[in-house]
Amino acid sequence: MTTPANAPNLDPLAVLRGLASLRRLAGSYPAGHPMIGQKLKELEDVIAGLLQANNPICIDVIRGDVFLDGVASSSENQANQQMLSQLSSLGIDSIHIKEGVQRDELLAVAEFLWQYSESGESMTSQLAARNVQHISLGRLLPLDTRWRTKQWADAPTGPLDPDYAESLTMAQKTWEDTASGKPLDVMTVRDLVQLLIYKVARSNAALGQILAVKQYENLTYCHSVNVAMLSLLLGKQVGLDEPTLAALVEAALLHDVGKTQIPLDIVRKPGALDKAERRMIEAHTTLGAEILIQTEGLQPLTPTVALEHHRGVKGTGYPDLGEAIPHPMSQIVSVADIYEAITGARTYQAPTPPERACLIMARMAGEKLNTGLVKKFVNAITFFPVGSLVRTNRNELALVVQTNQREPLHPLLALVDEETYKPMGQVDTSERESSGGYARHITQSIPAPDGLDLREFLEPAKAA
Ligand SMILES: [Fe+2]
Ligand SMILES: [Fe+2]
Repeated sequence: MTTPANAPNLDPLAVLRGLASLRRLAGSYPAGHPMIGQKLKELEDVIAGLLQANNPICIDVIRGDVFLDGVASSSENQANQQMLSQLSSLGIDSIHIKEGVQRDELLAVAEFLWQYSESGESMTSQLAARNVQHISLGRLLPLDTRWRTKQWADAPTGPLDPDYAESLTMAQKTWEDTASGKPLDVMTVRDLVQLLIYKVARSNAALGQILAVKQYENLTYCHSVNVAMLSLLLGKQVGLDEPTLAALVEAALLHDVGKTQIPLDIVRKPGALDKAERRMIEAHTTLGAEILIQTEGLQPLTPTVALEHHRGVKGTGYPDLGEAIPHPMSQIVSVADIYEAITGARTYQAPTPPERACLIMARMAGEKLNTGLVKKFVNAITFFPVGSLVRTNRNELALVVQTNQREPLHPLLALVDEETYKPMGQVDTSERESSGGYARHITQSIPAPDGLDLREFLEPAKAA
């Protein structure tokens, strides 16, 4: 029988903790000191256990949460948070370790972390100079073939719901004008809010295009329109009245407007950010709030949401505002913002499918995100939201056309012709066979191919 003492430790945080303490020891004691030897041994054991399950081990820190091979891991206690912020202050948010890693390499990385300064020389070449071949830090050494494999489009490429397309065009112009130094165009913002609430939100096709995985690298204006729509969806779930919903949509639409003040190459930088770049990115919250405060005619909470949307419900995150808890409206936008970000593509990663995004958000609930809001959001969109392309256990290709609140894992599907991507009739996966079991299950969701037009499956907005 395996005793707990012998069971492999599969916690990625143990690797980060081990490296962090090894870093301190390497800075305080000579290389042969027994404490360093002991710590190296412990770290080797943890890595060996993890390598049995994943090779390479991919540990990413995303907004203060730790992910092992894309799956979130708890980082809730304070010591962990401190260690994570130490690593991220060094500009490190990703550690990949390949099989074959040697003890000397672990020590070399720990020493490197102790001595690391922004010398202008890349982390890659500094690690190479120390003979480190099986460990990469930041996002600079692609060890994993899924890493930086694809150039994503800048915006949706396929046929769009016309109202959604119009809202993107309006947002793009507004953002470009603001980036070029013009004042924010409040009238267009108001029109955009109306368009989103009264047209886009009524189109299942548009919602499907926003909820399913987004195979484009989301520029700020697209992201902002999507976050506004997702915030609206969540705002309706929590029962906000119409004027509050309009204020919420405006705030969500403008939450990242501060990014118009930051050079695009930093906003979209594929590698790890250095300290100065990180500070610049984080400043989009305060820059945004400043722009919005100076703009007359906006709703009173719009600047607050821009300021607070990266702050957690326990007062963590940025900017540092002490222990202040974000306004409920900021908390709604944070949920929408995180879902949108993880289901969209990034220069360095493929989009995360909705079901996995829901699980990641569930792990963030309570610390970063408001638990009640996450539950409401996940219940509303379900693991397989409208617009998701899925495969069934009968190997059918199908599109989710209607979710089933009572049976969230068994929505109504439209079967899709594998060759033409045309609809082939609907099936209700909640239907049971005479034995009592479900006739169909969804086995996975998959990215939609370019040739699939959601509008042929989902209804556009009805005329008002
Ligand atoms: Fe943001
Ligand atoms: Fe955002």
